[in-house]
Amino acid sequence: MACTSSTGTKVQEQSPTEGAMQPDDFSIERSHFGTTAQGQSVEKYQLKNPQGSTIEIITYGGIITSWTAPNRDGKQQNVVLGYDKLADYIRENPYFGAIIGRYGNRITKGQFTLAGNAYQLETNDGPNHLHGGVQGFDKVIWAAEDTITGQGATLLLRYRSADGEGGYPGQLDCTVRYTLTADHSLRVDYEATTDQHTIVNLTQHTYFNLSGDFSQTIEDHQLLLPADRYLPVDATLIPTGALASVEGTPFDFRRMKSIGQDIAADDEQLLRGKGYDHCWAMGLSDSVRLMAQVLHPGSGRLLEIHSNEPGIQFYSGNFLDGTLPRPGGGTYPHRSGLCLETQHYPDSPNQSDFPSVTLLPGERYQTTTIFTFTTTDKQ
Ligand code: GLA
Repeated sequence: MACTSSTGTKVQEQSPTEGAMQPDDFSIERSHFGTTAQGQSVEKYQLKNPQGSTIEIITYGGIITSWTAPNRDGKQQNVVLGYDKLADYIRENPYFGAIIGRYGNRITKGQFTLAGNAYQLETNDGPNHLHGGVQGFDKVIWAAEDTITGQGATLLLRYRSADGEGGYPGQLDCTVRYTLTADHSLRVDYEATTDQHTIVNLTQHTYFNLSGDFSQTIEDHQLLLPADRYLPVDATLIPTGALASVEGTPFDFRRMKSIGQDIAADDEQLLRGKGYDHCWAMGLSDSVRLMAQVLHPGSGRLLEIHSNEPGIQFYSGNFLDGTLPRPGGGTYPHRSGLCLETQHYPDSPNQSDFPSVTLLPGERYQTTTIFTFTTTDKQ
């Protein structure tokens, strides 16, 4: 297979055409998406690059509702799972496309201690806290500001989370900046500040299916995760604290392999996750570096993810059960989407050996994740 993908250095380089790019080669269109039961208006922004790739983002949850990428013949298709109606997102959303906060992933029993104070968060995933609780950042309305520069089309989202919201200490001011660039990248910059000791771990929960055909499983997608270690979990999907070697296990994605290859292996960790639902550990990094590649051989679409986060949660859509409605008819089948969530490790507040998720007043939380689409030649 000839792979035209780039390496971890690509994101620092200027695209060859960038100097010549005029701001009006990009466009942003705003439209009304729906109104909540409380009467709040939800807007949709469509960001478009000069090559015709589009990303649609709504102010409810900062959700990416649609994201198109060209296949190897240049055909643009939506490659992310979502709904076409606000009511569907409000009724039941397994975090399709959403910003996750204040804490992406699980915290044991929703409990942690910080600066001598014990906190109890909501438990919304069996005994544990998941993805910010009952009304996480995926279910709040974000203020939006759009701009176009020579770099791309940007949507800046802001949300102020009040002290005590969901049980978390401190007022947290967050921004998430989505920038669509000419080279089919979406850059996501997260920032947050606080007025008290607190914890924060923001991520993005888009479900990808690079075939563009959501009646299909993602098990034929090929995945590369350049990580030597992953975090085994207990029966409630909380990391045991061990950083286990991937060597000789179904969790070894250091060379690209199909997701389906080992997913049904008789492996206790896979049984606990009902498939892959684990964090791969890459450690702290000062700069963004390659964290994942996903290839759909049929269409030639290749997605690369670069981030400066220490971990990446790979979730193979195991809880999709064929009941959620698909725009245009039908439902989303089991494993019709996969998530690659760059983040700090799950349950970090209770694991002193994991990189810290504590944010102090006067500090600025800043992380960046870049999703880039390219294509490969026919195999
Ligand atoms: C995360 C979790 C999964 C599941 C999905 C949403 O990625 O790790 O266990 O809860 O969100 O269904």
